[in-house]
Amino acid sequence: MGAVVEPVELETPRLVLDLPVPSDADLVTRYCQDPLFEQYLTTPWPYEHAHAESFLGEHVPAGWTSGSELTWAIRTERGGPLLGVISVREAQHEIGFWMGSEHRGAGLMSEAANAVCEWVLSGGIGGASTVFWRAVEGNLGSAKVARSAGFRHIEPENPTVPTRDGRGTLPAWFGVRETVVDPRAEASWHGILGERS
Ligand SMILES: CC(C)(COP(=O)(O)OP(=O)(O)OC[C@H]1O[C@@H](n2cnc3c(N)ncnc32)[C@H](O)[C@@H]1OP(=O)(O)O)[C@@H](O)C(=O)NCCC(=O)NCCS
Repeated sequence: MGAVVEPVELETPRLVLDLPVPSDADLVTRYCQDPLFEQYLTTPWPYEHAHAESFLGEHVPAGWTSGSELTWAIRTERGGPLLGVISVREAQHEIGFWMGSEHRGAGLMSEAANAVCEWVLSGGIGGASTVFWRAVEGNLGSAKVARSAGFRHIEPENPTVPTRDGRGTLPAWFGVRETVVDPRAEASWHGILGERS
């Protein structure tokens, strides 16, 4: 990346992924009150409306312009209410996501994550042959999304992520998704998720 990137819209059978815009601020503010975000994300905590305004008005457009982070709103129809957010960072093509609590458990994030990976790996980001995922250890919902989107669980030498304040580290899970889903991907999750029921 590193060049000017025009926002790209993606579609899946049930979803439209498009640009998050300032009018999404009320919903983003409400969703980001979720205690799971304090535990598992680095979104500001406590989360205030001004955070959503700067995220939508500055961070998201700047990320597209520079190519440093491409962020999509997850909606069921164009112009409809925002359900969640998904992004991919320039650094290591790392994917990140959250879904508003009332929209979880319907497979929507798995569908969105798969679409973003397919787009990145089919030329959306020139030269990308892998997408990385990481989550604080214990984030089962996130690991299940990664499994459903074709990631393979990997164990790097130092499997940690920085704490929210950047002063320490937390144990973490890591995954990688390749252009062709690795046949060992599903089984690689058995250790932490058990066999799929
Ligand atoms: C993780 C998250 C995005 C999942 O969103 P979702 O739309 O529910 O995802 P899906 O419906 O595609 O669910 C995938 C699987 O996770 C399960 N799941 C969802 N949330 C879960 C949770 N909190 N705990 C355990 N399992 C969960 C679903 O039942 C589904 O299981 P399956 O694969 O056996 O069918 C959502 O729970 C969330 O926003 N969490 C807080 C933010 C966060 O942790 N983001 C990821 C940071 S790495």
